Parts: sequence; C-alpha cells; structure tokens
Amino acid sequence: MNRDLLSTPELRARYPRSTKYDLDWIIENQLGSHCLWLLESLCAVMELRPGMRVLDLGCGKAISSIFLAREFGVQVWAADLWISPTDNWTRIRAAGLEAQVFPLRAEARQMPFAQGFFDALVGINSLQFFGTDDYYLHRHLIQLVKPGGQIGMVVPGLLQEFEGLAPETLQAYWQPDYYSWHAPDWWQTRWRRTGMVEVETCDTFPDGEGYQIFRRFEQAIGGDPMIAEDEGRHISFVRMVVRRSPGPAQS
Ligand SMILES: C[S@@+](CC[C@H](N)C(=O)[O-])C[C@H]1O[C@@H](n2cnc3c(N)ncnc32)[C@H](O)[C@@H]1O
Repeated sequence: MNRDLLSTPELRARYPRSTKYDLDWIIENQLGSHCLWLLESLCAVMELRPGMRVLDLGCGKAISSIFLAREFGVQVWAADLWISPTDNWTRIRAAGLEAQVFPLRAEARQMPFAQGFFDALVGINSLQFFGTDDYYLHRHLIQLVKPGGQIGMVVPGLLQEFEGLAPETLQAYWQPDYYSWHAPDWWQTRWRRTGMVEVETCDTFPDGEGYQIFRRFEQAIGGDPMIAEDEGRHISFVRMVVRRSPGPAQS
C-alpha cells in the first residue's frame, strides 16, 4: 500500500471534503475504489440540502452514506444487498449518525419504499450491476424519487463503446462482468429512452479524472494492473446526474 499516492497536496485541494476522512477508514471500507472521491465529484453537480431524504443505493459499507449525512446534513437510507445492515449500523453509530443514516438490506428491484419518497438518490460504483437492464430504470429506479428530484450515479465505464470484444491490449485482464461497463453516450441514451428524466450531467469527470481516480487507487493498493496498462485509452469512471421530469408520481 502506497498511502502517499492518495494524499498529495493536489488531491487534498481537489477533494477538500474527502480529505477530512481517515484514509485507513476509507481503504478498509471501500468496495472497489476511492468511493469518497467519486461521491464528492458527483455531489459537485447535484443539489443536496439539509433535511433532504436521500437513498444511497448499493452503499456497500455505508461510508458514502456517512459522508452524505455529515457533509450535506441530509437523511440517508443506506441500502445494500451484499453487506449486512448490522455491520453498517456499527459504522453509522461509530460516526454518531444514528438519527440521520438508516441501514437496510435491499434488492434494487424490490425496494421497500413509497414511490416519490426520496428527494434524491445516489449510486456509487453500483449501477453497473443492475442499472444496465433495459427494464430497470423506468420500472424500478426513477419512481423512487419525487418529480423534480435528482438521481446521480458513478459507474466504472468506457470512454467509447467497444465494437465487439474488448481491445487486444486489455484481453489478458478483461472479465465477462466488465461488459457492463459503458460509455457516457450509452448511459445517456438509456436514461433518455425512459421519457421520465432530463439529463443534467453525463461525462467522464473533468480533466481525465475519471481515469485518474481508477489508476491512482489501483496503483496505491497494488490492485488491478489492467488500469495502468490501459493508460487512459478506454477505461474511466462515468458520472451522470438526471432529474425526474415534473409530473405526478406514477402508480
Ligand atoms: C462495488 S460495490 C460498491 C459499494 C459502495 N458503493 C462503494 O463504492 O464502496 C457494489 C455494491 O452494489 C451492491 N449491489 C449489487 N447488486 C445489487 C442489487 N441487485 N441490489 C442492491 N445492491 C446491489 C452490492 O451489495 C455492493 O455493495
């Protein structure tokens, strides 16, 4: 582990909110990347106000939920399938956020909430597992937020869609699961086809940061060599924010 790579003066300036959190705690509780950098970049293009009800969908170990509650004063429902809500409750209590962050185990296609209950929804590094399903966005996800509410997601993705298989340079590392990684235009089209949202942001983060977050983190933890091998030619995190169109909640 090379902690210095994750805590340079440039990174502290770029991510002033994430920098306040203990690096060991972030590394111990992330499930895939530096989720607080991803979330901080997402929040820069979302409107979160104190008291809002926010669903953190696929929250993993709920450090993103803790971040949202602390940084923006919102109430967070920390929903995840693989991670025990009891374990997340331990982290939430340790953070002193029992009155603001509510953990639950939930399957993304069977969410136990009233339609339109949430003011906003975020998904960090999770929608690649279920959000690519043609039925999912309009049948399950969008109706969870109220009309006018925002949905923000960050997913591992591509700069451009592959034609067929992954390129030769990545073949040695590529896994079948990674074909759920898509380019911003692919995601934008999916969201637009629902007819239920306006797309507000759809990018790979400014300044090539979508790739750099990937590379920096994998390099620091001695993780997946595919990211360095790619040299920013194909792989990036993708960031999207959509707003549910005004209108009555659907039944
Ligand atoms: C790569 S982890 C990311 C977790 C966390 N957001 C983070 O960035 O550290 C993906 C998460 O998505 C959740 N997930 C995957 N499929 C899901 C589903 N069908 N319903 C709810 N959550 C799901 C998993 O439980 C897992 O914690």
